[in-house]
This record gives sequence, C-alpha cells and structure tokens, in this order.
Amino acid sequence: MDKLLITGGCALQGCVRASGAKNAALPILAATLLADGPVTLTNVPRLRDISTTMALLGRMGASLTQEAADRIRVEPRALTSFIAPYELVKTMRASILVLGPLVARYGEADVSLPGGCAIGARPVNLHIEGLRALGAEVSVDSGYIRARAKRLRGARLFMELVSVTGTENLMMAAALADGETLIENAAREPEVVDLAQLLIAMGARIEGAGTDQIHIQGVERLGGAEYRVMPDRIETGTFLVGAAMTGGKVRVEETRPDCLDAVLQKLREAGAEITTGPDWIELDMRGRRPKAVDIHTAPHPAFPTDMQAQFCALNAVAEGVGVVAETIFENRFMHVPELQRMGADIRVEGNLAVCHGVSGLTAAPVMATDLRASAGLVLAGLVASGETLIDRIYHLDRGYETMEAKLLTLGAHIERISGGNGTLTP
Ligand code: EPZ
Repeated sequence: MDKLLITGGCALQGCVRASGAKNAALPILAATLLADGPVTLTNVPRLRDISTTMALLGRMGASLTQEAADRIRVEPRALTSFIAPYELVKTMRASILVLGPLVARYGEADVSLPGGCAIGARPVNLHIEGLRALGAEVSVDSGYIRARAKRLRGARLFMELVSVTGTENLMMAAALADGETLIENAAREPEVVDLAQLLIAMGARIEGAGTDQIHIQGVERLGGAEYRVMPDRIETGTFLVGAAMTGGKVRVEETRPDCLDAVLQKLREAGAEITTGPDWIELDMRGRRPKAVDIHTAPHPAFPTDMQAQFCALNAVAEGVGVVAETIFENRFMHVPELQRMGADIRVEGNLAVCHGVSGLTAAPVMATDLRASAGLVLAGLVASGETLIDRIYHLDRGYETMEAKLLTLGAHIERISGGNGTLTP
C-alpha cells in the first residue's frame, strides 16, 4: 500500500487549480445511462472512484472513451446488463447512483446493497422508498436491491432526511417518469444542481434544483449532450485550510467561490484574509497562527461535513478552543485518534470534538481511515515537526487528484512511497 511522507514546517505559497468535483462527476456519469445518445463530459477528475464508475458502466455494456486527460465520452446505448455487482459496489458506495437511471430507462436494476462504511451505517432506505413511490417494485434479498418497473410514474416525494445521493437518484429516475414529480426536503448541494444542469442539457425538464423543492416533469426520452463538470469545492476548501494552518498564501483557481460561503466564513473567523474573483479564491494568513473556530456540520448551504476533518486539523494547532459538532454521520471522528498520536489535544464527546489548540504537533506514523480523514492527516503533517508517514492513502486517491503534486507546487515537502517496493517517488 502506498504511503505519504510529509516533512512539516513549510508555509504553503502559490497557486493551484481545482480539479473537477468527484461528487458531481459520479452522479453525472450515472446519468449517462439515461441517454439514448452519446454524452461527452469534460473536467472529469482522474480519481479511483471515477475509474470504478467507468468500470461499472463498462461492465453493463456502455462504451467509454477517455478522449483526453479530463474528457470522457460515454455511449450508453448498448447496455447488456443491469447489474451493479457487489465486488464493485463494496469499493464505492456511490455505485448506488446507477439504480435510478437503470429503472427509469430500462425498467430493471439489480444493485448490490452498498453496506456501511468507516463513517457510518449509511442506509439507503430513502432511495428505495422513493423508487417505490415512483411505482417501482423494489425487493431486497441476498444483498441486492432488485427494482422493476414498466414505466415509473411521477409522484410527490418527501425526503424524511436530507440525502444528497438520495435526491440525485430520485431526480434521475423522475426525469423519465410519466408525469410530474415533486421532491420535497431535497438536498441543496451544488453537486445536485450540477447534475440537474446535465439532465436539462439532455432534455430533462427540471426546476428548483438547489432549493429544497425540485419539480421534475417526466419526458419520453433523453438525448446525448456535452457537459463540463463543476470544480471541486471540497478540494478547494482543503487547500485553503492548508494555507491557513501553515500561515501561508494560496490562490485556488478554476473554482467556485459561491459554493463555499460557510467554509470561507469560518476561515475568516480563524483570522485568514480572503479575496475572491469569479473563478478564484485567495487566502493569505500572513504567517499568523489560526484562531480556533466552532463548527456545526449540516446540509448545504450550512457547513459541509466533508470539510469537518480538515477543520479538526486546523483547530488542533489553533489558538484557543474549537468545538466541532458532526450532525450528519455517526462515526466521522476517526481522524481524531490519529491527530492525538501527533500531539493534538482533542476530546470526543458523542458527536462533539472539543479541540484545545496546541502550539505545535509532532510527526508520527498515522493511518488514513476514510477519504476526508486522510486529507485532515495530510494537513496535520504539513505543520508537524518532523516526518509524518501516512499509511493507507488509497483513501486519499479516491477523492483527490494528484494531491501530492499540487502540494509540491505549493512548496510542501511531500513524497509518495509506493507500497510495492518501498522506493520514493516524487
Ligand atoms: C454524499 O453522500 C457525499 N457522497 C458524501 O461525500 C457527503 O459526505 C454526504 O453526501 C453528505 O454531504 C457523494 O455525493 C458521492 P447522504 P450520501 O445521503 O449521499 C442518512 C466524500 O467524502 N441517510 O446525504 O451517501 C445518512 O446515513 C463523501 O466525498 C439515510 O438514513 O450522504 C446520513 O446520516 C463522504 N438513508 C444522512 O442521511 C438514506 O437512504 C446524509 O447522507 C440516505 C441517507
């Protein structure tokens, strides 16, 4: 297994470009199954989860062409199978996003139950209940969700909990249903809006994406399209937190400042000077130590849970006490014991992490447990004195495109040690 070796103590300085958003590209790739023509996507990030999704679509019979580093053409018309097998779904829960499109376009889908993951049980009851409300026959047996429908019928769907992929799955299903669907208490994340815009480019009739009420007027067919995936707001926020923690100055380009209000507000509270333009954000910490901030994760536009681990790392070295409340997932503090190994003074009490900032962390061998926890550990390694070795960074590779290369351009001392033969690779 690859590891990352980070020598702390350098302030991040310079410019990086945000990659395409993983959590927009995944539902958008699934949505290509709805089309009866080719869909070309640009700004698709090169990530493990993306290649897993491409493998899944390929297994079903779609033909995918990587036309350039960030450009993928999907030809979905020759599907031969409507199964998302366990061996693929267990490596990436977001595979469940093929459920809605398959039932809507082909009338059948057998998708392995994703099962839980490190951060929580992550049930998919809302996806199943929503499809049933749209008229699908859905049974769950021997670890698979089996859904069948002649044609889905529009319905009024109330989401008991705000669910990002739940909203996305049902919006995709409703796009080809007969009649009108209203999704109430819909997720408002920018990635939901990005998916809606792709669907509209394919001919879908959708209004209200980005609000908690999405209206979908089902259509008979959806055509091909060309679409550019939005930039990754969580990758953007991760680099900005790195600049704040190291006292540096970083500009993230080709990103979307309008998607990060809650995060930028907390960075300003931590003492960062932030300026923004139409597609860039610059954070200047002027060598100062960050001030601790209180965080309360909640659905967009509130503070994103995917930035929680990064702010635990910031609070670990900040001045003062910061209380982090995680309200979305029941087990998303696994980065805390690893930060404690580096000298962080953080106490977890239920869904709260109470962080007493320390003047400095010390390097230690640590282990990544999930995607965003691993990002938090990388940030901690950037400020720790000595060499931090992070194991199991395949978690990081799932959601961050060439993170070490981008950090190297910002002046970090970081190198990947390949798990195979232990050699150092820049
Ligand atoms: C999406 O996961 C993201 N993944 C997650 O990002 C993100 O953390 C999460 O939304 C919250 O913003 C993708 O978009 C691929 P939810 P999702 O359904 O859709 C409960 C990352 O690091 N729930 O919004 O799976 C659930 O247990 C990943 O990039 C049900 O109870 O999350 C959770 O407590 C991690 N039943 C809450 O709702 C359901 O049927 C929100 O989950 C569905 C969800």
